[in-house]
Amino acid sequence: MAEIHLQNITKIFDKKARAVDDVDLTVTDQEFMVLLGPSGCGKTTLMRMIAGLEYPDSGRVRIGGRDVTDLPPRKRDIAMVFQSYAVFPHLTVFENIAFGLRMKRVAKPEVARRVEAAAELVQLSPYLARYSAQLSGGQRQRVAVARAIVMEPAVLLMDEPLSNLDALLRLNFRAELKRLVAELKTTTIYVTHDQVEAMSLGDRVAVMREGRIVQIGTPMEVYDRPATQFVGSFIGSPPMNFLRGRIGGANGHSSVHLGDQEFTVPLSIGRTDGDILIGIRAENIEAESTPVAGAIAARTEVVEPLGSHLLLTAVVGDQRLKIQARTDFPAQPDGPVWLRPRLSNDPRLPSLLLTSSATSASTQRANDPRRLNRSRPRLYPHQWSRLDSAGAIWLRRTWTSAVPPKTTASGTSPPR
Ligand SMILES: Nc1ncnc2c1ncn2[C@@H]1O[C@H](COP(=O)(O)OP(=O)(O)OP(=O)(O)O)[C@@H](O)[C@H]1O
Ligand SMILES: [Mg+2]
Repeated sequence: MAEIHLQNITKIFDKKARAVDDVDLTVTDQEFMVLLGPSGCGKTTLMRMIAGLEYPDSGRVRIGGRDVTDLPPRKRDIAMVFQSYAVFPHLTVFENIAFGLRMKRVAKPEVARRVEAAAELVQLSPYLARYSAQLSGGQRQRVAVARAIVMEPAVLLMDEPLSNLDALLRLNFRAELKRLVAELKTTTIYVTHDQVEAMSLGDRVAVMREGRIVQIGTPMEVYDRPATQFVGSFIGSPPMNFLRGRIGGANGHSSVHLGDQEFTVPLSIGRTDGDILIGIRAENIEAESTPVAGAIAARTEVVEPLGSHLLLTAVVGDQRLKIQARTDFPAQPDGPVWLRPRLSNDPRLPSLLLTSSATSASTQRANDPRRLNRSRPRLYPHQWSRLDSAGAIWLRRTWTSAVPPKTTASGTSPPR
C-alpha cells in the first residue's frame, strides 16, 4: 500500500509539445483516483511516467515516500493494465495470470495459491484451464486485471481498461471493478475519457485538459462545482448550461438580467453590477407550462423523449439551454415555456452558480470542449479561480441568503 506523489511533472515531446505540463498530484494510500480528460490531454503520458515507461523532462515521482523517478518499472512495485489488454492467446487463463509470478520465479505452490485467489476475485475460477482465445472480451479483460492484481502491487495503474468492451459489458464490468478495487484496497489510478465511468468509480476525479490538471475533487464536487467552464461542460450529459447575463444591484437587491428579462435575487454578493456567467444543470431547472412569478419566459425549440425524462432545448433571447422535464410535461416544439432554477438545500453542492467572468464569445468558444485544439486556452483555470472567489455566489432554496464563496474549504483543490 502506498501514497503516490507527483511533483511538477512535465513531459515535452519533440522539443515543443507539452503532453504533460507541470502536474502536481497526490493520491493517498488506498485511494481510487480517476484521471479524466479528452483525447490527447496527456493521461497516458502521465501514467507512463508513474509506471517508469517514460522519463519526465522535469519533476519527481514518489511512491510510498520513495523517490522512484530514476528507477526502472520493475523496481516500482506497480502493475499496469492497458487499454489493449494483451492477453496471450496460446496460454491458458491460469498461465496468463501466472505469467508475472513465473518471471519472478515464485515457487509453484505459491503461484497456484495466488492465481486461484486472483481468479476467484475476478470470477474466472471456472475458466482457468481454457485458452484465452476461447474467452469473451469481458473475460479477457478480467484476465488482464487478474494478471495485474496477482502481483499484489502497491500501486495499480489502469489505462482505459474497459474501452474495448461493448456498452453493456462495460456497465457490468464497471460495477465488478468497483467491488474488486474496494476489496483489494490498493492505491489505484484509473484513466478514462468517459465521464460516467469516472464519476462511478473514483473516490476522487482529477480532470485534465491540455496537459494540466484543472480540478481535483470528489465526483459530486466536480459535477456540482466545476472549477472552470470546461469542467462543467465536459462532465455531465447534457453539459452544464452556461448563460451570459448581467447583474445589477439597487435597494439591497440584485437583479440578474438575461437578455431583456430579469429576475431578482435578494443577495449581497460582494459586487453590485457587471457581466456574469450563470452555470446551471438541466436537472436544476424547473419548467412550467404557464407564466409563474419569478420565472423567465423562453421558447421550446426541441423536445427529446428519453424514457425516464424529457430533454428540452429552449431559447432565452439568443441563448440556448437544456432542461430536464418530467415525461408528462406538455412540451411542444416552438411553444412557450417558463423556467426557474430548482435550488439546492446543500450550500456545498449548489444547483446554480453565478460567476463574474469574462463573457465574450471568444472565451466561450475557447472553453467549449468540442472546439478543443492544441492552442493555449484563453481563460486559464487560475484566472477563473480568481474570478470565482471574487464574485461567485451560491444560492440557497430561499433565495434570501448567500453562502460566501469557498474555493478551497469544500475540499475541492484550488485549480492551478
Ligand atoms: N511518443 C510520443 N511522441 C510524440 N508525441 C506524443 C507521444 N506520445 C504522446 N504524444 C502526444 O502527447 C499528447 C498526449 O498524449 P496521450 O497519449 O498522453 O493522451 P491521452 O490523454 O492518453 O489521449 P487518449 O484519451 O486519446 O488516449 C498528444 O498530443 C500526443 O500526440
Ligand atoms: Mg491514452
